[in-house]
Amino acid sequence: MNKLFDPISMGSLLLQNRLVMAPMTRGRAQYDGTPGALAVDYYAQRASVGLIVSEGTQPSDEGQGYPGTPGIYTPAHVAGWARIADAVKAGGSHFFIQLMHAGRIAHPLNTLHRGPGVAPSAIAPGTAIFTPNGMQDVPVPRVLSSSEVRQTVKDFRFAARRAVDAGAAGVEIHGAYGFLVQQFFAPSANVRTDRYGGSVENRARFAIEVAVAIADEIGASRTAIRLSPSSTMLGIDEGQEGPDLYRYLVGELDRLELVYLHVMHPGDDGLMADLRRLWRGTLILNRPGRPFAEIGADVSSRLADLESYGQAILANPDFVARLKANSSMNESRRQSFFGGDHHGYIDYPTLQQDECPTTI
Ligand SMILES: Cc1cc2nc3c(=O)[nH]c(=O)nc-3n(C[C@H](O)[C@H](O)[C@H](O)COP(=O)(O)O)c2cc1C
Repeated sequence: MNKLFDPISMGSLLLQNRLVMAPMTRGRAQYDGTPGALAVDYYAQRASVGLIVSEGTQPSDEGQGYPGTPGIYTPAHVAGWARIADAVKAGGSHFFIQLMHAGRIAHPLNTLHRGPGVAPSAIAPGTAIFTPNGMQDVPVPRVLSSSEVRQTVKDFRFAARRAVDAGAAGVEIHGAYGFLVQQFFAPSANVRTDRYGGSVENRARFAIEVAVAIADEIGASRTAIRLSPSSTMLGIDEGQEGPDLYRYLVGELDRLELVYLHVMHPGDDGLMADLRRLWRGTLILNRPGRPFAEIGADVSSRLADLESYGQAILANPDFVARLKANSSMNESRRQSFFGGDHHGYIDYPTLQQDECPTTI
């Protein structure tokens, strides 16, 4: 596990260790998409990891799907994120903003524009979504025309510039977990007949165009992407060609020399080994629900350069100190994951607080 605590260079950044806070939606942004007041404390508390990736953040009105998710396309958004980026840097970490376009995973009750989501094709995911009126079926999305797809690429580019304006070290394109970018990959969401549908190359095109546009705008050394090969979340089925799509995509992305690739382990060791070989840059690996005893194993074996953790860091602001001390960890409280106040957000105790509990 020790290597995890060694510093590592990533592009021009020096990370204090090889632990990454995975992006996590918390649903506490203001109505206009400005990050909530408590977000500064939340992220600053966790700045002992090498890199913090923000919660999924929409690049445009249209990119919102859930209530309370933040944006990064207005001056108010930039000002809100600037306070967070400053606090994370002051704490010794580096900060990337995850650009998440929800695509078809949206509901009119959740968004400022009050319309359905937009998507490669008019296919509902067959899932329900949280709304202010409780769980509701996700409606059939509106299809993006070819020119709207090109406009969406521009929206990502614009948002990436705003993220850097806010002081983020870079952006991570959310290409995982069933949102817009992955919707293009999957025949279960994409039956287009233009240059964004059909062949593996066509289905990978949108992700590549977004990466190229952002790298052109803010530099490849500030552009990253997250992928979840084979994930079936939110109605995704990548079909038999799925593994080949990722081999092709990662090979193409590698040529762009982006700052990192963040992968959810596909559960297929052969495919994971192929992706590691095809990607010559920094690789961050996430294994959902990784047992405590295996923390550090992928860095030790060199399958990954860094390991990311979600729930463990959500529930343990001093995750690094707890790991070093081989101490027990707080359990995360699911009921406070999305929305709400400071409970389950900035009130998880550190080891020190465990030892000297405060009485109020
Ligand atoms: C509350 C919560 C919100 C999440 N939101 C996002 C998100 O906005 N973007 C994303 O890429 N993944 C998101 N994830 C997935 C995590 O980044 C991570 O991949 C997942 O939790 C598995 O890792 P873990 O077992 O270490 O938590 C979320 C997970 C949780 C628990």
